[in-house]
Amino acid sequence: MKRIAVLASGSGSNAQRLIEHFRAHALAQVVLVACDQPQARVLQRAWDLHVPSYLFSGKELRDGTLLGELQQHRIDLIVLAGFMRLIPAELVRAFPDRIVNIHPALLPKFGGKGMYGHHVHEAVVAAKETESGITIHFVNERYDEGRMLFQAKCPVLPDDTPESLAERIHALEHVHYPRVVEKLITG
Ligand code: GAR
Repeated sequence: MKRIAVLASGSGSNAQRLIEHFRAHALAQVVLVACDQPQARVLQRAWDLHVPSYLFSGKELRDGTLLGELQQHRIDLIVLAGFMRLIPAELVRAFPDRIVNIHPALLPKFGGKGMYGHHVHEAVVAAKETESGITIHFVNERYDEGRMLFQAKCPVLPDDTPESLAERIHALEHVHYPRVVEKLITG
């Protein structure tokens, strides 16, 4: 049984999908939700779904405390689901090709520092793009640059707002993220 930790900073709709997808799975399970924001809705979702959660600070992310916690839980795979901080090199080295992220645009476009959540959709709409989508990729020490695993596209409509686009992107994420993570685990 592969043990998955989900790292999240916000609402946690992807975290919830992942937890539900792997709930009755024979090969993997989400055993920990780790979060860096005390007010994040993902903590309530984890509670409601009976998954243990762990709250940590930016300092604890960088000084190895989070790494120790993940090792204590015997985590095999780390899945970032709306996690907004840079993963430190030490953590990347401890989990080689075992940290994945989802980005709400078609990387390498609209990625990098500061490009997360609604900032991404605002930039895509402002640039008058005709399509956007999602990218699932391995995580390295730089924002949004790890090896790509999967992309899916959707249209950007002329009257889209960042909010309406975010909704379309979330729907795409909820369909594909659990499936791609499962494929990674089962090979
Ligand atoms: C998702 O759209 C995810 O792709 C994005 O944050 C949102 C979190 O939603 N991640 C990034 O922007 C990372 N750079 P959720 O909390 O409802 O899962």
